[in-house]
Amino acid sequence: MRIAMIGTGYVGLVSGACFSEFGVDVVCVDKDVRKIDGLRERGEIPIYEPGLDALVASNTAAGRLSFTTNLKEAMAGADAVFIAVGTPSRRGDGHADLSYVYNAAREVAEHMDRYTVVVTKSTVPVGTGREVARIIREANPAADFDVVSNPEFLREGSAINDFMRPDRVVIGAETERAQAVMRQLYRVLYLIETPILFTALETSELIKYAANTFLATKITFINEIADLCEKVGADVHDVARGIGLDGRIGRKFLHAGPGYGGSCFPKDTLALVKTAQDFGAPLRIIETVVSINDQRKKAMADKVVQFLGGDVTGKTIAVLGLTFKPNTDDMRDSPSLDIVPALQQAGATIRAFDPEGMHEAAKHFTNVLYAESAYDCMAGADALVILTEWNEFRALDLDRVKTLLKAPVLIDLRNIYNPDDMEAQGFRYSPIGRRSVG
Ligand SMILES: NC(=O)c1ccc[n+]([C@@H]2O[C@H](COP(=O)([O-])OP(=O)(O)OC[C@H]3O[C@@H](n4cnc5c(N)ncnc54)[C@H](O)[C@@H]3O)[C@@H](O)[C@H]2O)c1
Repeated sequence: MRIAMIGTGYVGLVSGACFSEFGVDVVCVDKDVRKIDGLRERGEIPIYEPGLDALVASNTAAGRLSFTTNLKEAMAGADAVFIAVGTPSRRGDGHADLSYVYNAAREVAEHMDRYTVVVTKSTVPVGTGREVARIIREANPAADFDVVSNPEFLREGSAINDFMRPDRVVIGAETERAQAVMRQLYRVLYLIETPILFTALETSELIKYAANTFLATKITFINEIADLCEKVGADVHDVARGIGLDGRIGRKFLHAGPGYGGSCFPKDTLALVKTAQDFGAPLRIIETVVSINDQRKKAMADKVVQFLGGDVTGKTIAVLGLTFKPNTDDMRDSPSLDIVPALQQAGATIRAFDPEGMHEAAKHFTNVLYAESAYDCMAGADALVILTEWNEFRALDLDRVKTLLKAPVLIDLRNIYNPDDMEAQGFRYSPIGRRSVG
């Protein structure tokens, strides 16, 4: 089998590398010349994703994985072409911006010279697959193809494992011929008995949005319960465990925090809200989730300011973690993008450290001082704020933290420390939905 992967970003590069590991010949294409040159000439991985460098190196060496900016070359002899380009929020209205997908479809049409399965791996609203088919037919009436929807459920930070051992694979394919190609591509997953769901195109497209908006709702639910916990003196950790042990609820995605962010949940919740409104079937739950989450990210800066006495003018705040979650360098819609500027606006100086995200972060923030390590970040600061739960922040040497900070004050927006321990250590401590100390 041979495939072309259009878009060599978080999803395209991981999917391409994983398919090549499955034994498929993969050519990854991108318009970004620097990205492709780096990959091709220096084996440079453009993103931070654990394990990806080794996977790319071994499959490139084995001759199953290559990179190009030339789609024609990539499509030569391909059984399938995957579209894994970005679908960001459209400026102004929140609909998914499908221009990259439709441009890719036009380009694919131009180079199609044999039966090809065109697979949308990008997260795309209901109806996009049919539109991709229409575009290809219009641009190349003689083209012999099927359009398939195959949404991706990988999580950044554990993307390779998620791709290789997924809970399920969803395939919206409506002809036997296309289904057979997809079955062959995912043969390795059949062997490990991964559930593979074949559905209609629209169903597959909607499954992806329904999954992401459900998860965003679950996070938002526990975040609101956390706020209530703070008012009534309950502990959100215990509440989450108490409900999560119920098999109907499940324990995952019940961690209270500063609000969901990242490259998917914010834009996908918004896009589904728009789709539902367009079709006259508004999703009021998701509309509410979107607005609660937006407000929450903004409210987090206020929580910090209040804990620091209501005025942070002239104070230095040490911020640990800037990416939207650990084990990625992705800053897209990270809560830090709301919290850091709001703290600056309130008069604080921000010194920050993130193990992988500072290069990306520097494109978004102004006047942030970047530190070389977590400890370097907090030296002489008035307070410490944990924004992202990187493992290295979970086991800080608290004695050292105390000597470095001007005063032992920790605002823990990821609940990675425990109020009792922090009290015993003599910290003033503010978590989310749990007892504050001091
Ligand atoms: N990032 C995630 O964790 C994740 C998970 C599941 C699904 N998704 C979905 O996957 C899609 C891709 O997301 P991403 O995070 O990988 O995006 P990304 O921005 O990291 O990568 C997209 C790449 O596509 C390239 N590109 C755009 N148009 C092109 C064209 N016509 N030809 C060649 N290359 C082109 C861009 O240069 C870029 O490198 C989105 O729809 C997203 O919602 C993302």
